[in-house]
Amino acid sequence: MLVAMEFDLFILNGVVVLENEVGEFDIAIKDEKIAKVVPRGGLEGMVTKKTIDAQNGCVMPGGIDSHVHLNEPFIMAGGRCADDYESGTRSAIAGGTTTIISFAPQSKNEPSLLAALKETHELADSNCYSDYSFHALCTSAGPLAISEFPALRAAGISSLKFFMAFEDLQLHDDEILDVLLAARRNQMTLLVHAENGQVISWMTKQLEKEGLFDPKWHISSHPPVAETEAASRAIALAGFIDVPILIVHVSQPAVAETIRAAKKLGLPIFAETCPQYLFLTRDDLDKPGFEGAKCVCSPPPRNASDHEGIWRGLEDGTLTVFSSDHCPFVYEDENGGKKSSISKEYPNGRFQYIPNGCPGVETRLALAFSAKRLKLQKFVEVSATYAAKMYGLYPQKGALIPGKSDADVTIWYPEDESFTLSNKMLHHNVDYTPYEGQTLNQWPRYTILRGKVVWDRDAGGVVGNKGYGKFLERGVSSLAAPLRPEHDWNARDF
Ligand code: URP
Ligand code: ZN
Ligand code: ZN
Ligand code: ZN
Repeated sequence: MLVAMEFDLFILNGVVVLENEVGEFDIAIKDEKIAKVVPRGGLEGMVTKKTIDAQNGCVMPGGIDSHVHLNEPFIMAGGRCADDYESGTRSAIAGGTTTIISFAPQSKNEPSLLAALKETHELADSNCYSDYSFHALCTSAGPLAISEFPALRAAGISSLKFFMAFEDLQLHDDEILDVLLAARRNQMTLLVHAENGQVISWMTKQLEKEGLFDPKWHISSHPPVAETEAASRAIALAGFIDVPILIVHVSQPAVAETIRAAKKLGLPIFAETCPQYLFLTRDDLDKPGFEGAKCVCSPPPRNASDHEGIWRGLEDGTLTVFSSDHCPFVYEDENGGKKSSISKEYPNGRFQYIPNGCPGVETRLALAFSAKRLKLQKFVEVSATYAAKMYGLYPQKGALIPGKSDADVTIWYPEDESFTLSNKMLHHNVDYTPYEGQTLNQWPRYTILRGKVVWDRDAGGVVGNKGYGKFLERGVSSLAAPLRPEHDWNARDF
């Protein structure tokens, strides 16, 4: 006699966002994978251990946040980020994100990228609630770092970020060329922080000379040209070496326009934007007292009138991924790394010493989903699918493909009910959210990671366990390829 297969979980009655259509489908999960996606009612008569009734709510792949800083030392901050791998990934699942990609930062005294990777594994392994991987973070591109690219690939790290800004962190053009060429030869995806560090330093000096120290002057110290110039230079250098790049945290429509033009020329240029550039404005840095420090990040939030151009960039594919750039610092705390500027090492109240970065891993999806600005499929593409493709995780992540995709699912409520966002609701280790008081109409009801419910908003909140999150070895990007991958780059060709 044949024994009927027993599934682990059914998700019934959802409006499911698939890559080619949105519709009424039921989902069966078995052994941590999506096993079946069938028209509603199609699982009748089959056996399962557990069922979730989505009640016509939206069902989509779990969010992928491909730009998250956890437990990193920050030179400027005189401390570490406020979230470690435990609190940061707990915050991620509570907001519907099932995979994060954080950074393995090279340190000043230790030029080895592999040493940084080992150290970051020690911080993350057995501490995560979500699945996770790391981008290498290169702040000094010496011969040792460059020689380690093949070993990084063998260790499942297929992407690397570098800075064009910040003394002590930034690479100069010759080092950038070394990194671009090594990335091309090893099929690594590069993330570029495109701001001109010297423009920022020069502007900071001008402002300080005039006695302008308040948080709002951070915006003037990062003028639009610092970002437009660096983005154009990054595109030019990447074109010279013929290697794909992704420009992170794009803040201005003018930069989006430059990227759009590069794409039209057929160049493999990709880009990212973040909630700060859709939901914050320069006014948020001009709050009474030192409160504006809470929203200091780089590039800074721009004008409200710029938001439209950033949304349009996401809509038309100019901006490929929407991630949080979660870079958490407490506002009021004595343990260093704080934003409220009262520490011995750093003179009080000067914007240049405010740690750069905002928390946002938990609020990213709810902010964008509540805004109802993007079509459902576009929302899923920019918040999950494209990151999976960009960083070598697809179709294991970022999709709901039977037999191929992990059963990572976010289920939303069937109806909108407005509520006011407050930091009290959140699970990060930060004493504020930049989005305090914003009206939202959606929050993930369930987060499911590899078939297991890890967030149940109405019954228990975070119900996943620390250590369930797995390290993800990543392969090559399925979006980004050099124009001529078959040719080795050769100086004699020029
Ligand atoms: O201000 C920011 N973005 N802080 C995080 C570090 C970075 O540049 O991504
Ligand atoms: Zn230099
Ligand atoms: Zn950056
Ligand atoms: Zn960042």
